[in-house]
Amino acid sequence: MSTTTINTQKVNFKVFRFNADEDYLPYYEDYSMDVTSEEVVLDILNRIKWDHDGSFSYRRSCRHGICGTCAIKVNGRATLACKESMTEMIKIFGNELTIEPLK
Ligand code: FES
Repeated sequence: MSTTTINTQKVNFKVFRFNADEDYLPYYEDYSMDVTSEEVVLDILNRIKWDHDGSFSYRRSCRHGICGTCAIKVNGRATLACKESMTEMIKIFGNELTIEPLK
């Protein structure tokens, strides 16, 4: 029987926000969350929506890295949110991550 260790790290997110009905310009909202080594970027987007701000919107469909609907940028790097592990993002960019839509 094997055991899997789940690590948790504190990560600060800057998340792009813009509501064309209310905002004159886009802005970034800050969120600080404990992230586990099992999570992918889409889990973070879900947690922002479910736990912090129900008005936060993003797209996803297959959740298997096939359709491309969940494509976003993390620190300027285009990625599939449902496929990219948070462990990999933290390894590349550290604990300060900026999440934005594609151009
Ligand atoms: S939801 Fe289809 S690739 Fe991510």
